[in-house]
Amino acid sequence: MQIDVFTLFPDWFGWFEGQRHVANARAAGHELRYASYRDHSELSGRQVDDTPFGGGAGMVLRVDVVDAAIQGFYGRDSLDVRRERRVVALTASGRVLDDALVDELAREPALTLLSGRYEGFDERVVENLATDAVSIGRYVLSGGELAAMVLVDAVLRKLPGSLGHEESAVEESFSAALEGAPEYPHYTRPAEYRGWKVPDVLLTGHHERIREWRLEQSRRRDKA
Ligand code: 6GU
Repeated sequence: MQIDVFTLFPDWFGWFEGQRHVANARAAGHELRYASYRDHSELSGRQVDDTPFGGGAGMVLRVDVVDAAIQGFYGRDSLDVRRERRVVALTASGRVLDDALVDELAREPALTLLSGRYEGFDERVVENLATDAVSIGRYVLSGGELAAMVLVDAVLRKLPGSLGHEESAVEESFSAALEGAPEYPHYTRPAEYRGWKVPDVLLTGHHERIREWRLEQSRRRDKA
């Protein structure tokens, strides 16, 4: 998979790139690239944002700047780029990211993520340059960069090669294997600590009973 992230702050992703599973994904052949809006701005002082028409607080990322960045990076018209790959605008008002959407995005051969800053994008970015608008929850972040990292993290761990164990992403919280429910609780050594005991069933070695217990716990958490 190829993921391109458009951002005002490419160096924020240096830390992200250092994470083991991100490095693993790279080594497995997945590609992560970054594009800076500012590098593609033709405006004086490499301006990227402007004050909102109609007044109000904050700054808005300009549509001409985002358009030029996409065209400059891909070397073709951004409307053609949008026909060829999912272009996801990260915005607080978008479709809320969940496991089903992560699965959907993980099946794409290529993704382009547009991070917004300040008050967000000029709405024409979302309407004309993007195929999707995605939010990571109903709260406001100061920009889309952290949201882009959350999305890329969640997508990468669905791809073969990112996790240590191939099965790790199959039976995890909210997956179909767990009927969309949160994951069951995990325990490790010591079996007893300050009187806090690990559930007996997990120490029996009885795989079928353990499987049933886990599914039951998962369902119970779903109702909570
Ligand atoms: Cl994608 N962007 C911003 N600015 N805030 C958010 C968000 C995105 N998702 C949740 N809050």
